[in-house]
Amino acid sequence: MNRPLASFIALLSFCTLMPCTQAENVFRPGEIWPDNHGVHINAHGGGVLHHDGVYYWFGEHKTEGRGGNQANVGVHVYRSTDLYNWKDEGIALKVVDEPGHDIERGCVLERPKVIYNEKTKKFVMWFHLELKGQGYAAARTAVAVADHVTGPYTYLRSLRPHAGVWPTNAVEGRGPQNGYLRRDFAGGQMSRDMTLFVDDDGKAYHITASEENRTLHISLLTDDYLDFTDQYVRVFPGGANEAPAICKHNDKYYMITSGLTGWAPNAARSAVADSVMGPWKPLGNPAVGVNPANGLGPEKTFGAQSTFILPVAGKDGAFIAMFDQWRPRNAIDGRYVWLPVEFVDGRIVVRYRERWDLSVFDEPAAATQPAD
Ligand code: DGJ
Repeated sequence: MNRPLASFIALLSFCTLMPCTQAENVFRPGEIWPDNHGVHINAHGGGVLHHDGVYYWFGEHKTEGRGGNQANVGVHVYRSTDLYNWKDEGIALKVVDEPGHDIERGCVLERPKVIYNEKTKKFVMWFHLELKGQGYAAARTAVAVADHVTGPYTYLRSLRPHAGVWPTNAVEGRGPQNGYLRRDFAGGQMSRDMTLFVDDDGKAYHITASEENRTLHISLLTDDYLDFTDQYVRVFPGGANEAPAICKHNDKYYMITSGLTGWAPNAARSAVADSVMGPWKPLGNPAVGVNPANGLGPEKTFGAQSTFILPVAGKDGAFIAMFDQWRPRNAIDGRYVWLPVEFVDGRIVVRYRERWDLSVFDEPAAATQPAD
């Protein structure tokens, strides 16, 4: 066998046994993040589920070009045991080639989040759905279910929640801010950017931008996580929050959101509560520092927008705030900005770091140093 051919075969067998990318041991916010095939991870607006010792990252599979923000493929899932290195597990929920289907190819399917139901042993995915050809007018939330974490997920239905039901704290927003709530009372409330949160008691909550993105709604899901109960609250009426992300630390609930500027970045906000259902108290902008790659600091959240707060398994008080740096002109090139969360004087703080690893959670200073 000639030399070049022998080296080629040796390389090929190495690549079959081992992924042909070097193992990563650091987070590099805003950079290309290769999966086990060396391909930039395609899981935008995502969320992470930790199940049986493995992390699963679900997100929007974007495609190239301006149409890349539409759902042309579905929800992508990756797995990891260390949070740095991710193996492509394929498409967990596929779009459908059936005209008029809710998740017809070309619809808008955003911010998928998956939770596990201990009672039913099912994996439940909720996501923001906009029907094909209707822009962002449909404002629906949708649910799919699977027996296996990586899918395939079976699409169940979409809805506008709480038709004919007033929120438990409607009185808080009585007045001009209440117009959209009343308008949508009979048909169900709008639901756009959303996330899910499972509390320690197993109760699951759906948190969404409703009322034309003016007011957040937090709803208790049914015990099987597949539907809405009648319990929901309005949060920050008229506050214009979207991109909600929630975590719980020392019996307090913390939320990070953004303002409303489409794909363009704006200043993040944060809030704290003693109960998921509130009342929520605003805490101000959680972002600290500047992203040297684009010169953007807290006023533009380093050029990114919140999507999820990921609890690091086995490390009490360790959370990673996941943000997306959108690239609407070539959506597939969107970047991930993952940063460690700090809790400082009752506030949630997200400090920019160019490079970091999980050892930051072992440094006592990381949790106590004041925000500058
Ligand atoms: C901002 C939202 O957070 C995104 O998920 C997406 O819906 C864009 N707006 C669309 O402009």
